[in-house]
Amino acid sequence: MCGIFGIVTKEEQPLGPILIEAAKRLTYRGYDSVGAATLSGSRIDLRKDVGRVEEVAKKYDFATMTGQRGITQLRWATFGVPSQVNAQPHIDSDGDLVGAHNGNVVNNVELRQQFIAEGLTVRSQNDGESCVHAVERYLNKGYDFIDAIRLAYGDLQGDYAFVIGRVDDDRLYAFKKGSGLVVGLGEGFTCVSSDLPSLLPLTREIVRLQDGEIVTLWAERVELRSVKDGARIARESETVSESMDAVQKGGYPHFMLKEIHEQAQVAGEVLHMLDGSPEVGRVIEAVREARHVYFIGCGTSYHACLAGAVYFAQLAGRAVIPVLAPQFIPQYLPAVNHEDIGLFVSQSGETKDVLNALQAAEERGMTAFGLANVIGSTLTRATACTLPLCCGYEISVPATKTFTNQVVTFLYLAYRMAGHGTKELAAIPALMAQTLELTAPQVEALVPPINEWNDLYCLGYGATLPMALEGALKLKEITYAHCEGMLSTEFKHGPLSAVTAGFPVLFAAGPGDVPLIVSGINEVTCRGGRAIAIGQEDARLRANASDLITLPAAPADISALLAVLPLQLLSYHMAVARGYDPDFPRNLSKTLTVD
Ligand code: G6P
Repeated sequence: MCGIFGIVTKEEQPLGPILIEAAKRLTYRGYDSVGAATLSGSRIDLRKDVGRVEEVAKKYDFATMTGQRGITQLRWATFGVPSQVNAQPHIDSDGDLVGAHNGNVVNNVELRQQFIAEGLTVRSQNDGESCVHAVERYLNKGYDFIDAIRLAYGDLQGDYAFVIGRVDDDRLYAFKKGSGLVVGLGEGFTCVSSDLPSLLPLTREIVRLQDGEIVTLWAERVELRSVKDGARIARESETVSESMDAVQKGGYPHFMLKEIHEQAQVAGEVLHMLDGSPEVGRVIEAVREARHVYFIGCGTSYHACLAGAVYFAQLAGRAVIPVLAPQFIPQYLPAVNHEDIGLFVSQSGETKDVLNALQAAEERGMTAFGLANVIGSTLTRATACTLPLCCGYEISVPATKTFTNQVVTFLYLAYRMAGHGTKELAAIPALMAQTLELTAPQVEALVPPINEWNDLYCLGYGATLPMALEGALKLKEITYAHCEGMLSTEFKHGPLSAVTAGFPVLFAAGPGDVPLIVSGINEVTCRGGRAIAIGQEDARLRANASDLITLPAAPADISALLAVLPLQLLSYHMAVARGYDPDFPRNLSKTLTVD
């Protein structure tokens, strides 16, 4: 959510094209407005509006922007409606400072009142503007820039990262409090960004900032200081080797489709990593010895927690409590102590709801483990150990490959805990590839009739329930249709009343659950509904369901995982057929760093 990028060069030069490209690389985080500002001498050129990067950049001719320093920001609205005035970057009262943030300043409303009372010019409702005024108020009192930032940092409550520059200066300043911030060092320039992918085409030499650190960027060097006392911090730069392929579509029309098709390969990679990981034994031992075990996550990652809980109970006889991160605190925290462990699951490792639960749990003495894709994220640094998901960058907002690798990891841990060999799991990558190949044409054929509906259900049972919930979430996220995921046997207790002629109900059928699923199917079809089964070839499903999307033969636990793949494909193709961009669904963000 929101993304910032800043660059400092030696002298004035065309910066517009660099800012446009950097902004495009940040789009996967989710946004509704775009802005760019350049600084040179005593001039600030600020252009911004609501819309996609391509549209706004074209409308305001970003390509012609020149300067010695530049900032671009993508905004995902929290404080203030998406509008030109609320778009970032923002200038200060007299227009000689310009800055932008990502994250959330939770005392924004109070701060705006203070700024207005102090006579500052407040133009928007947006909290990014508050960051600028928070620095401005101390510069006006005569503090130098670093001290003004240190004091502003104390005033700005919440989690955010911020970049700011001033006219008649040659530097940019940035600071980090809770949101990601990475510095890049290049030939004759330095830059800073919310995350690594947006820096990769410019440089591989980076410095990762930590919370409570301020960085000053000159064209030739950077300097880190502590917010606490202003003292210099020495930190060597590191050279990263991440591949650029990950941030390109590689011939696919959308990142989502590319990432769906990467699932077989990354599943192989995570299995390989788990085979060689000394941390696996540590996590299993902790699960074995713990009094209570919690699997904690949000959104898609929560669905992986549900799958993990099914696998641990079914395969290893270990009951686990899966819980949505924000519910963990009100429901379970009073019952938690040092004998318990939590496995915190998050693709980004930055979801605020998850980090809040983690912090509260650790304060109660719980041992916390992580399962995350972004190594170096807050979650990976705050847990006793974190198992990496090995997915590379996932750019598309709807999670696909990170979900399946979360589930594969849980399955692997459950197998190991049960004392099974994990050889059987080595078949997963090939089965996933086969599933995608087999189901893609079947799914595409179903898109036109299903797409006529704006309401549908996606049902599962046992190990397929989490997959049905995840499929329903994917459908909601990118088709904007209402799709409810639920236990198949619950459908008759109310939702059945929605069924009319042709009404679509999807059933994810595990091979051992066919008789039960067939009952559910008939409850729908005898009322004229369209029951679409997803399962292995089975005469009973074939005879009773309106349609059968066939999965390859596989053991029940792996078959459950495979069932989510056609649901991902279905949501993708429905979204595209509706004219929506599945990579950047409206109102959503890849990394939710707000409460
Ligand atoms: C956001 C995203 C969801 C995601 C959830 C948890 O809401 O839009 O797709 O599942 O955050 O993200 P995490 O990074 O913690 O897995």
